[in-house]
Amino acid sequence: MRISVDIGFGYTKAVSEAGQEVTFPSIVGRKFASSLEGILGGNQEDYIVTLSYPDKPEEDAQSYYVGDAAMTAGGNRTWEEEHAKNRNLEVLISTAVGLLNEKDEEPIQLAVGLPMTVFKAQQKEIQRKLTGLHITCVIGKKTKELQVDTVFVFPQGAGVYYAALHDINGEIKNVDLLNKQVAVIDVGYRTTDFLFMVRGKKGLVARPEPFSGSEDIGMNTAHMEIQTEILKPLRGQQVDLLDIEKALLWHNGMLSVKGGELDLKPYRARAYANVSNEITSRLKRRWGDDINTLASIISGGGGGDALHSHFENSFPVLTKIEKPEYANARGYLAAQALVMKGRG
Ligand SMILES: Nc1ncnc2c1ncn2[C@@H]1O[C@H](COP(=O)(O)OP(=O)(O)OP(=O)(O)O)[C@@H](O)[C@H]1O
Ligand SMILES: [Mg+2]
Repeated sequence: MRISVDIGFGYTKAVSEAGQEVTFPSIVGRKFASSLEGILGGNQEDYIVTLSYPDKPEEDAQSYYVGDAAMTAGGNRTWEEEHAKNRNLEVLISTAVGLLNEKDEEPIQLAVGLPMTVFKAQQKEIQRKLTGLHITCVIGKKTKELQVDTVFVFPQGAGVYYAALHDINGEIKNVDLLNKQVAVIDVGYRTTDFLFMVRGKKGLVARPEPFSGSEDIGMNTAHMEIQTEILKPLRGQQVDLLDIEKALLWHNGMLSVKGGELDLKPYRARAYANVSNEITSRLKRRWGDDINTLASIISGGGGGDALHSHFENSFPVLTKIEKPEYANARGYLAAQALVMKGRG
């Protein structure tokens, strides 16, 4: 079965060839046996994951909090710093694949994406690490045997471009955009990746820096601004970034603090406007007058959704892609299909 996993700094997004989708925060925490387990009842947060390696019986199975469960239990997002030594990447991929793979032991053709900034440096290593991976993955009460057959690695942003043109089987769905000069903006959690596609003699190519590339700005930048702005009403008390994110994601912007509640929505509105202005001005500086040669600017990525209305006012030819947070994952699946058909 073909499955693609877009491992973002912020969220993991995955799509299967059957069209099923799953997303969760890219957060992992180790879970140790706890005497508190089951005491309070309630529903278990998604996900508790236990991994073991059938080919390495000497290695003990290990349990993790992943996604929402890790956000609640206090995991971290630092996997990208030294992922070679770190199992978080494997944990995130196994969880996503375990959730989507329908039949046990059916070989998986995996497509993964990496942020453009780390793509060149980590592409080979990730491919090596994941090819042939055989893992027993227990998620909640379900056990899946995962067997990774082949691994394709693509850069983020490129996924959005493929998703705009092709369906997940690689068939062309948007003839209008084919061979047109377009740009892609992928606003993520930590980075904004962008591609400026131009028509060459032999077809479309991505124009190099400064036209295509990555900027260290994303939805997390907005969360950090909120963190600073609420210092005043909270008289200097610093709130954890994860707590701000949880309030925005799960509690309608209401942050529990100092025995009361602070409504983050007005702060969010200002922070989103500021972050979109900053992204817009950086892109306009990079693209200059060449922006006028674009037939379309395609906005994807989870952040693109939140900032769309702002971008609409700044870019005249903006096109929103459906379910933008999954656009990269769908695009990797499309690109993988094209490679497998020998047309990539
Ligand atoms: N599962 C989700 N639930 C809620 N919001 C989400 C989810 N996935 C994405 N988002 C929204 O999208 C933003 C992050 O976008 P995205 O998932 O594209 O980032 P990323 O790919 O993880 O980051 P980067 O591209 O920097 O590595 C989040 O801050 C949030 O606003
Ligand atoms: Mg991303």
